[in-house]
Amino acid sequence: MTKKIILDCDPGHDDAIALLLAYGNPDIDLLAVTTVVGNQTLEKVTHNALAIAEMANIRGIPFAAGAVRPLVREVEVAPDIHGDSGLDGPTLPTPTLTLDKRHAVTLIIDTIMSHPPKTITLVPTGALTNIALAARLEPRIVERVKEVVLMGGGYHVGNWSPVAEFNIKIDPEAAHIVFNEKWPLTMVGLDLTHQALATPDVVAKIASLNTNCSQFVVELLDFFGKMYKQAQGFDAPPVHDPCAVAYVIDPSVMTTQKVPIDIELTGSLTLGMTVADFRHPAPIDCHTQVAVKLDHDKFWSLIINALKNIG
Ligand code: BDR
Ligand code: CA
Repeated sequence: MTKKIILDCDPGHDDAIALLLAYGNPDIDLLAVTTVVGNQTLEKVTHNALAIAEMANIRGIPFAAGAVRPLVREVEVAPDIHGDSGLDGPTLPTPTLTLDKRHAVTLIIDTIMSHPPKTITLVPTGALTNIALAARLEPRIVERVKEVVLMGGGYHVGNWSPVAEFNIKIDPEAAHIVFNEKWPLTMVGLDLTHQALATPDVVAKIASLNTNCSQFVVELLDFFGKMYKQAQGFDAPPVHDPCAVAYVIDPSVMTTQKVPIDIELTGSLTLGMTVADFRHPAPIDCHTQVAVKLDHDKFWSLIINALKNIG
């Protein structure tokens, strides 16, 4: 049985690889791709999403643009990691695919409400603005989705502050809404994604596929690696967003632990922290869990096989 997902993203180098993994894996039925302001402006990340679709010849899947700004805060983008375009490195093809006319939030709601209950997994890999708006506009989606598997947060580490991760920090109010709705939610945070390093041997394996798509990914990783070295001192870049897609494909790619999580909204030093309470065994009705340990080889095999399938 294929797994139906909606990918809500802000491409973004690692979002691009998440999209290619979702499209290229035969167990995933990618129903829609929606974009949200984050790594760059909405206009830029939406253009990037369409350019990736062009490069990989993705057709027959609706793409829609969503929120231009966070719920409360000013726009904050990440050129230090993703460059001025949001996807610096490879030369991007000019998109020919046109956007779905609906707002991303409407597309998300329409898609969930027109499918049987508990069949769709939401996979956000950017700020949670669209997902929060969707939950407020059509509260029935909360009962109706199968689960939310998101890249964001971290229970021991931050990257946009000592304790907060970028996707959560740039729209903490949206994250607060999404983490407090009672849908099953898996947080694939930095604790996990910092294990998903694109080491030289991984990059060499991708390069050896010798396709347009693999070449594109190698160029993405080359730029991403340089920026991560410069900005955060990593020897190999952590490829965050595909980890969330990989978990949907095969949950055995990582271990998880149930734990209550809430979002800090008021701390002057801790805004956007994903506060996970490990003090006791999780209560029986706990609806949130965190990803803990990645099977590195299995993860990269999923990506390499998806790239092979795209060709
Ligand atoms: C997250 O922030 C973005 O820059 C990446 O695309 C990823 O979703 C990592 O903190
Ligand atoms: Ca992202």
